[in-house]
Amino acid sequence: MTALQLVESLGVAESVLIVGASGGVGSFAVQLARAAGKRVIPIGRGDSLVEADALIDLVSADRSSFEANARYAPLAFNTNYVSADPAQNFGLKGSREMLVRLASMVQSGDLEVPIGRRVPLRDAADVFAGHGPGKTVIIM
Ligand SMILES: NC(=O)c1ccc[n+]([C@@H]2O[C@H](COP(=O)([O-])OP(=O)(O)OC[C@H]3O[C@@H](n4cnc5c(N)ncnc54)[C@H](OP(=O)(O)O)[C@@H]3O)[C@@H](O)[C@H]2O)c1
Repeated sequence: MTALQLVESLGVAESVLIVGASGGVGSFAVQLARAAGKRVIPIGRGDSLVEADALIDLVSADRSSFEANARYAPLAFNTNYVSADPAQNFGLKGSREMLVRLASMVQSGDLEVPIGRRVPLRDAADVFAGHGPGKTVIIM
């Protein structure tokens, strides 16, 4: 839902930088932005930014890092509430309706859910101890 709401916040922006594109939110934001017809520029560790119409910054944990990235796009959002401008501090407002839309996209094959690992139910408690790329499927 975070990725969907972020992408829908981009309006008519034709190109978007996504910093942290390989992560949990980023992997969905990349797919959803492309599905919305936008040119996506995924930014991973060590990648240089280029100018674009919009920025989704999923990584910056302080104001100066975000401001440095936001110089590349006139429309910019961060997910860690680090901007002095409240309009740039994205906060998810989830809803059942959004979940239903996303589930529909998954079922139709328009949205891929990256599966990081599959664990049996007896190991379910352990999966909360760490994290990694992709979703965890608990097999019952
Ligand atoms: N405000 C809201 O409503 C809201 C909602 C959801 C999430 N969030 C926040 O959004 C952030 C992202 O969430 P997430 O679930 O996507 O996290 P995540 O799965 O940990 O993904 C973060 C991604 O950023 C990459 N990364 C780390 N440092 C980077 C750098 N300097 N340059 C480029 N990429 C870098 C990581 O790569 P590596 O794998 O190499 O480390 C990882 O792929 C978190 O801070 C989370 O708390 C906020």
